[in-house]
Amino acid sequence: MDQLLHAGRPVVAADSRPPVGLGRFGEYGGRFVPESLVPACEEVERAFAEAWADPLFRAELHQVLSIYVGRPTPLTPVARLSAELGINLLLKREDLTHTGSHKINNVLGQALLARRMGRRRLIAETGAGQHGVATATAGALLGMATTVFMGERDIERQQLNVFRMKMLGAEVVPVTSGSRTLKDACSEAMRHWVTAVEDSYYCLGSAMGPHPYPWMVREFQRVIGDEARTQCAATLRTGTPDFVVACVGGGSNAAGTFAGFVDTPARLVGVEAAGGAAISAGSTGVLHGFRSKVLQDAHGQITEAHSIAPGLDYPGVGPEHAYLADLGRASYVTVDDAEVLAATHRLARTEGILCALESAHAVAWVIRAAGDGTIPPAATVMLTLSGRGDKDMSTLMELS
Ligand SMILES: Cc1ncc(COP(=O)(O)O)c(C=O)c1O
Repeated sequence: MDQLLHAGRPVVAADSRPPVGLGRFGEYGGRFVPESLVPACEEVERAFAEAWADPLFRAELHQVLSIYVGRPTPLTPVARLSAELGINLLLKREDLTHTGSHKINNVLGQALLARRMGRRRLIAETGAGQHGVATATAGALLGMATTVFMGERDIERQQLNVFRMKMLGAEVVPVTSGSRTLKDACSEAMRHWVTAVEDSYYCLGSAMGPHPYPWMVREFQRVIGDEARTQCAATLRTGTPDFVVACVGGGSNAAGTFAGFVDTPARLVGVEAAGGAAISAGSTGVLHGFRSKVLQDAHGQITEAHSIAPGLDYPGVGPEHAYLADLGRASYVTVDDAEVLAATHRLARTEGILCALESAHAVAWVIRAAGDGTIPPAATVMLTLSGRGDKDMSTLMELS
């Protein structure tokens, strides 16, 4: 564990304490926001620290996650695909949560926090629409108005989720600037937050953004890793898996998953989209209020990401992942769109599970790595299946 210590205190997910200083994960993280947002970030930080230390807040979140979201989600051994690959593959089924992805874990935590802070309105950005749907759902559940910013391009490719958000009573604001995807939606949501801090809470959808968001979102998502750790202990002869794998966009499902296994010998693997590989192909820079690995040109201009999966179409990554990569505690790999499509079809045909294109990135890497020996025969692999594929059916229909 020594390598995980920084200034004498753990800064990664080995425990629930906040990162050192202003939300630093090594040289990454921090709070690079306009002056007008500093008090708002400080207020969220204070409120979260208090709430997370309050057993009543924890109990309420636990209750809603169990009776509304359907937690704990199962850990499913996938026998046919495992036999084909010569490994023992287990899926942590976030696709089975209410609203269909892990995003709801974080959103309900933040929405309960917003209510505790006396806020009456939620603001969110969304790419794949899953975070937007989760926020609209929490808004309806808690009686809070909800505004979701979404790039025009994502609105076109995720029409089902746009309709769901509207059905749930949310206002969906199209973002027409830049690449009209997640990065631009995030910029617009932050711009809007500056004008509405008094009554609105910014419910950020991944383990990124200014402190305290990367830490707070990881804490709300660690329920994935904690449950999976217990389930692995009950299922596996060895207690812990050899590999723990999750897809990485901003990095929240991976951060929550890794939090449960960071102090075990398991190899942690984050899978990025080849066209949005901030860790594998990026360099250090600042985006959306935090320092991390970002895709940028020689002049520091952020370059556009591309992925068939709108939730991975982001040119940055949460700061904890950049730090885990530097430490060598987690490794980050990429897969391309063609491998993702093949993996989506293969999982559907062998196991009867239609997963989200984002989650299929993790499946695609496991298929490749089992094939080339990176994952040795008979190894155990715990993979977080972050979401279900309903939202991607129109994309898949077009491509078929
Ligand atoms: C199903 C699903 N998985 C993964 C992601 C990527 O987000 P993160 O890296 O924060 O888990 C998204 C983002 O929209 C998603 O919808």
